[in-house]
Amino acid sequence: APLTGVAAVQEHLQELQSIAEANGGNRAAGQPGYKASLDYVKAQLDEAGYVTTVQEFSTLGGTTYNLLAETPGGDAGNVIMFGAHLDSVSRGPGINDNGTGSAAILQAALDYAASGATPTNKLRFAFWGAEEQGLVGSTYYVDSLSEEERGQIAAYLNFDMVGSPNAGYFTYDGDDSDGEGEGPGPEGSAQIEQLLNDALAQAGVETEGTDFDGRSDYGPFIEVGIPAGGTFTGAEGTKTEEQAQKWGGQAGEAFDPCYHQSCDTVDNVDTQALDRNLQAISTAVTTYAEQFPQP
Ligand code: PHE
Ligand code: ZN
Ligand code: ZN
Ligand code: ZN
Repeated sequence: APLTGVAAVQEHLQELQSIAEANGGNRAAGQPGYKASLDYVKAQLDEAGYVTTVQEFSTLGGTTYNLLAETPGGDAGNVIMFGAHLDSVSRGPGINDNGTGSAAILQAALDYAASGATPTNKLRFAFWGAEEQGLVGSTYYVDSLSEEERGQIAAYLNFDMVGSPNAGYFTYDGDDSDGEGEGPGPEGSAQIEQLLNDALAQAGVETEGTDFDGRSDYGPFIEVGIPAGGTFTGAEGTKTEEQAQKWGGQAGEAFDPCYHQSCDTVDNVDTQALDRNLQAISTAVTTYAEQFPQP
């Protein structure tokens, strides 16, 4: 039988690493390892019955692509999007950043399809190119939407780095509860934050908020007023003593010491963090497939 859950996610990560190794050590936008990554993801979504589209665009680094995959069923006037950037930096294979987010939303999509359910809303999964060059793919996508298409997107959930080896458990601070951000995000963002916090609590861990300032592909969505949210296990930031007490791991060290480096391999992933985030993603998929916003 095919793998499911986090074991399947780990298999996807292994495959993404092999793709990088076979293509000069990276999966950067415009490089062959990126296209091979996209082909790998697309084949599985096609096989599972998703309707896939490849959107081509160009960057300074050359031609690259976004991959979109949506459920054939569900209300096209009420689309719930899940996204992750599939490109790496050119210095390494990009397994935590962002093989983890890509593989996790891929597996959540495959597990949802295997359940046989037909969603009330339409689900659309996005794999972005050229995030590392400045959110180029997600910006291109949002800019390409007609007014009508934009209005049909009810929510966007983003997953960028969800298996950091010295993991933190963060959700984007959509309600700006700490008052340190740029104010609350589009209405509905707070509700997404709450659902992800509850799902991670269910998986056994207490979250903290993290800046909702546009440092990943949700940026172009909130800029046009689409409610958004997501989870994050930390990048170059340092884990505090209090966070190490609460979450385990090493205080005084980076959440991801291999951030943007050649050592961002399959050995640079905390499987428990990845599993907890996958559970939160799957909860969001099954909940919002039926209803968003929640009553
Ligand atoms: N977008 C950053 C990168 O890919 C990582 C990041 C994600 C930072 C989410 C903050 C919040 O390098
Ligand atoms: Zn990055
Ligand atoms: Zn990233
Ligand atoms: Zn908050």
